[in-house]
Amino acid sequence: MSTAKVIEALEAIPYPGMEEDLIQLKVVKDVTVADGTASATLAMPAVGSRLRPELEAQVRQAMEQVEGVERVDLKVVEETLSLEYGERNLIPEVRCVVAVSSGKGGVGKSTVTANLAIALTQMGNKVGILDADILGPSIPTMMGVERPLEMFGKRLIPALSHGVYYISFGFFVKDKDPVIWRGPMIDGMMRQLLGDVEWRDLDYILVDLPPGTGDAQLSLSQLAKLDGAIAVTTPQDVAVADVKKGMGMFQKVEVPILGVIENMSSFVCPSCGTETAIFSEGGGTMLASEYKVPFLGKVPLDPVVREGGDTGQPIVAAQPDSPQAKRFLELAQALSEQVTQRNLKKRLTHVKPVFTLNQA
Ligand SMILES: Nc1ncnc2c1ncn2[C@@H]1O[C@H](COP(=O)(O)OP(=O)(O)OP(=O)(O)O)[C@@H](O)[C@H]1O
Ligand SMILES: [Mg+2]
Repeated sequence: MSTAKVIEALEAIPYPGMEEDLIQLKVVKDVTVADGTASATLAMPAVGSRLRPELEAQVRQAMEQVEGVERVDLKVVEETLSLEYGERNLIPEVRCVVAVSSGKGGVGKSTVTANLAIALTQMGNKVGILDADILGPSIPTMMGVERPLEMFGKRLIPALSHGVYYISFGFFVKDKDPVIWRGPMIDGMMRQLLGDVEWRDLDYILVDLPPGTGDAQLSLSQLAKLDGAIAVTTPQDVAVADVKKGMGMFQKVEVPILGVIENMSSFVCPSCGTETAIFSEGGGTMLASEYKVPFLGKVPLDPVVREGGDTGQPIVAAQPDSPQAKRFLELAQALSEQVTQRNLKKRLTHVKPVFTLNQA
């Protein structure tokens, strides 16, 4: 029995959804064998991943089946996503920045952002929201304010609610101000909300963008390393046509589309609970397959989802065990998987250093 045999057995297991195997992706490491005990570390590449039980069982079984292995000592740890530093990145301490976009207003971007953020927190991630929707910043209303925004010298400390740190354009524009923003103003505001805020080491920032393909989208993609965008759509054709424009814009600035979410995809009757597809079905899945991007899931049109948003108690926080909350949790899991796969791919392309310092 040898370490090589155990490694070989693990090389036969691909990471779910990817072609590469667990050894190649460094998801399993520190493989050693001594006195009939095979030891290894399973380093789950994301916090709170639903794949953990499946992978743990697969790895354990593969190791046990190697001839001569009597015991398996498998340590499981959760790793955070990798950080990327860059000249233009105003928030290098944030591991993953995801824009939530839509071609059209009112499709549920803010609702999705708020609930996804809380769901990611429930998975164990540290999460922030940047509400960059100049036209209708609604995150403070949707999230409620448990701890308000504070100033610390010239730095801003984000507001906090339901475990999510957030900052909003709405904190800086007075109610009923005629909001006419020109490109440079948006750019200046975006620069401040990224660079002057103590975001600290967050796993995710979700950015609630104004609808369409305007200046906020461009500023954001120039000032921060945008890991990807989510396109929110309703099933109707019009919304789908609009959302295509938005997706085209992100593709132009080389921001990957992490997936499509179909909101208000069916109506849940408040008295009997039956789900009816009022609008045409399948807009979201069609869009995803046309653009060859993942379909992350659907959220039904449900009065309790709206009430949660109106009262500062998003459904995921207010009723975490409800079926509606579970939908959002599934979306958060699906998003986390997309982000993780991209993060793992980077491990493959990293160039090995030519020489290593302090080599033993
Ligand atoms: N799945 C849902 N079920 C019921 N109501 C919903 C759902 N999603 C969103 N809503 C409600 O629809 C309205 C619009 O949603 P939201 O504000 O999230 O959309 P938006 O795309 O952010 O809009 P805007 O373009 O104005 O920023 C809100 O009143 C919200 O509570
Ligand atoms: Mg909104």
